[in-house]
Amino acid sequence: MPLTTTDLLDAEYFTDTAQPSFVVDELTLRPWSADDAPAVFEAFEDSGIQRWHARIAVSMAEVRAWLEAWAKAWNEAAHANWAVIDTDTGTLVGRASLRDIRLTDGQAAAAYWTVPAARGRGVAPRAVAALTDWALNQRGFHRIELEHSVRNTQSCRVAAKLGFALEGTRRSAGLHADGWHDMHLHARIRGD
Ligand SMILES: CC(C)(COP(=O)(O)OP(=O)(O)OC[C@H]1O[C@@H](n2cnc3c(N)ncnc32)[C@H](O)[C@@H]1OP(=O)(O)O)[C@@H](O)C(=O)NCCC(=O)NCCS
Repeated sequence: MPLTTTDLLDAEYFTDTAQPSFVVDELTLRPWSADDAPAVFEAFEDSGIQRWHARIAVSMAEVRAWLEAWAKAWNEAAHANWAVIDTDTGTLVGRASLRDIRLTDGQAAAAYWTVPAARGRGVAPRAVAALTDWALNQRGFHRIELEHSVRNTQSCRVAAKLGFALEGTRRSAGLHADGWHDMHLHARIRGD
């Protein structure tokens, strides 16, 4: 059944264009590479990442498969995933993503984690701000959502620093290892 609207985003941009990199202060956001596997495996040994992303890494082979999927998702216009690197040391400090890209109405969801040693210096907010500015102001996205458990106060601070308005609480919407959590829905729309 045909839509009454035309797609806001062009799938060919993702299939025909290499994923961009960004530099923000001392941080470089770049596409993932297979060489990142040991650092991602180590990041997923952190109980905070395991808790809030409801996932563990069982082997290096599994992490390599994630990295392959994260890279491929760009050309499929499905998800856009970046490694966040400390430019001076070359070490991985986090992940920032625009997930669940919808070409029809130009929407996506911001997701992120940082490694324990890099927390508390604004890595996640600065990385996601760069992606959100690019998506909304350069690439024609209309709305970026950000969802986190109401119990994850650190993630709520990231949303606040990003200026993502709190739109409400989705009741019992996120399944975690300790059960269902209410989830805060934040969003930024173009022009905010
Ligand atoms: C949530 C998270 C991404 C924040 O990243 P970050 O780069 O540390 O972001 P910020 O530096 O802006 O810190 C955010 C808040 O974390 C808290 N924080 C500060 N230093 C911290 C530290 N060393 N360790 C843990 N939390 C710290 C503070 O409450 C801070 O807010 P404030 O600056 O208003 O005091 C990071 O803590 C993380 O990866 N946690 C585990 C996974 C996760 O929660 N992912 C998000 C799922 S929605």
